[in-house]
Amino acid sequence: MDHPNLYRSCDLPGGALDWGVRSAFVRAKSAIDPSRLETTTRRIGEEIFRRAEAAAPSILSQEYWQTRGMEWLTRDEDLKLRLFRFIEALPSLQTPEEIARRLKETVDRNGEHGRPLPLAFQAALSYRRNDSWHAGLVAWAARYAALRAATQFICGSTPREAIESVLQLRQSGMAFTLDVLGETVHSDRVAEELQQLYIRLVEQLSLAAPGWPAAPILDSAPWGTIPRVNVSIKLTGIVANLDPADPTAADAVLARLRPILRAAMRHGAFINIDVEHYAIKNVTLDLYQRMLSEPEFSNWPDCGIVIQAYLVDGERDMAGLIDWARRRGTPITVRLVKGAYWDTETAEAIREGRPIPVFTEKWQSDASFERITRMMIDNADIIRPAFASHNVRSIAHALALEESSDLPPRTIELQMLTGMGDPLKRAVVDMGQRLRVYAPFGQLIPGMAYLIRRLIENTANESFLRQSFGGQVPIAELLRMPGPEQSVRMAKSK
Ligand code: FAD
Ligand code: 2OP
Repeated sequence: MDHPNLYRSCDLPGGALDWGVRSAFVRAKSAIDPSRLETTTRRIGEEIFRRAEAAAPSILSQEYWQTRGMEWLTRDEDLKLRLFRFIEALPSLQTPEEIARRLKETVDRNGEHGRPLPLAFQAALSYRRNDSWHAGLVAWAARYAALRAATQFICGSTPREAIESVLQLRQSGMAFTLDVLGETVHSDRVAEELQQLYIRLVEQLSLAAPGWPAAPILDSAPWGTIPRVNVSIKLTGIVANLDPADPTAADAVLARLRPILRAAMRHGAFINIDVEHYAIKNVTLDLYQRMLSEPEFSNWPDCGIVIQAYLVDGERDMAGLIDWARRRGTPITVRLVKGAYWDTETAEAIREGRPIPVFTEKWQSDASFERITRMMIDNADIIRPAFASHNVRSIAHALALEESSDLPPRTIELQMLTGMGDPLKRAVVDMGQRLRVYAPFGQLIPGMAYLIRRLIENTANESFLRQSFGGQVPIAELLRMPGPEQSVRMAKSK
């Protein structure tokens, strides 16, 4: 396919596109036929499924048994939630006796539902007070199992392990964004240590990066070179007790962020600011724009942000960012996600009697994701689009829009999480896409909230991954345009 002028943009300041290129994007906007787009989405989706099937884990692999374990867990909603609460409490339980007693209480209530428990849980059930040998065994097994669950979703516990993991990712054709586990930090000392760790990571990785083997698909895009070093940061990790109502909060965040951004700019690295709870969403978007409007950063394209499609505000947030980016005149990268805090956002809003900020039906978040995808692709001259999802329909729709808009391949980037959808990762890489893997590292206690989000996500009835690789829902159904029928399908498959 011919892409007039597009590659000429590579040498422009900040990678901004010239008007010849802009007009190619504008032409693309008007020309998309919806039924052709659906056909293309289905074709791409079917190809992803076909390739993912071929890359599925063998019965001998650890991933296969982890998946089976997750499937077992998801059959009993109540037990699942109790086990998650147990895992969350585990780091704070001091003695083997405490662990054994808490686990026994957790699984004991299962008798009410009459379902047989696997052998490992039966050992906890037969624990008797003062049997320290038995308590030791149960505690060891519980800690081991929690650690196994955690390690599935992280790329190491130390910077050294994390760096080894991301180099392996590059060898298998995947780019990375490193994230240091730690959020909603309450101690200023811990927050500052995290900030310093980010600066050291940026500096040390950037010194090593020129020696990594070249990977043109990962290191270049139609507009030019892409930084090899990429890190993701949560604001609640680098500023203690971040409270949007506190008038000093903004200055505290900016003071912590500036040195990280300066290090990244100096070394040619990329920083992504993650978006967390709704309560700090507006302040995160505002500070991102304020920071990148400061003269020292105003021509810098390599700091990205996240838009959450599950928010009722999602489209408005995206429109605001597009307007601001156009005024600033330098492109930005936006990572579109559905949103990782659905359960807590919903529960807290109901408890506090305020409007729920997220959509309440899954198909609405999927449809919002597609509308925002369109906004990003229509504005790809100023928004460098990254789509973070393990949902084949969402991914295929983004790729179909890229193709139908006559944008060059790899204008869009796909992103996925460590430990989720590995066959999908292989599939899109084999299709020649640029895939970035979000690679968190660190310790279990600061990583607990992250781990629990992943466990909830992976075992949710409505999870696309669960629906697709459980094998019960036909591929044609999974690839259908998001709509209310999806809710009926979910209800049937429960
Ligand atoms: P799907 O199964 O298609 O979607 C699941 C999602 O749908 C849920 O996570 C939820 O958002 C939504 N949902 C579930 N049930 C309902 C319901 N009843 N009504 C309405 N919506 C519902 N998330 C962030 O919040 N901030 C980040 O910075 C962030 N960074 C990420 C980076 C990467 C690389 C990736 C892959 C994900 C990131 N996420 C982030 C997580 C992301 O938001 C999703 O939680 C996750 O990817 C699951 O969405 P999916 O499209 O893969 O799967
Ligand atoms: C989360 O922390 C990946 O940012 C996302 O859940």
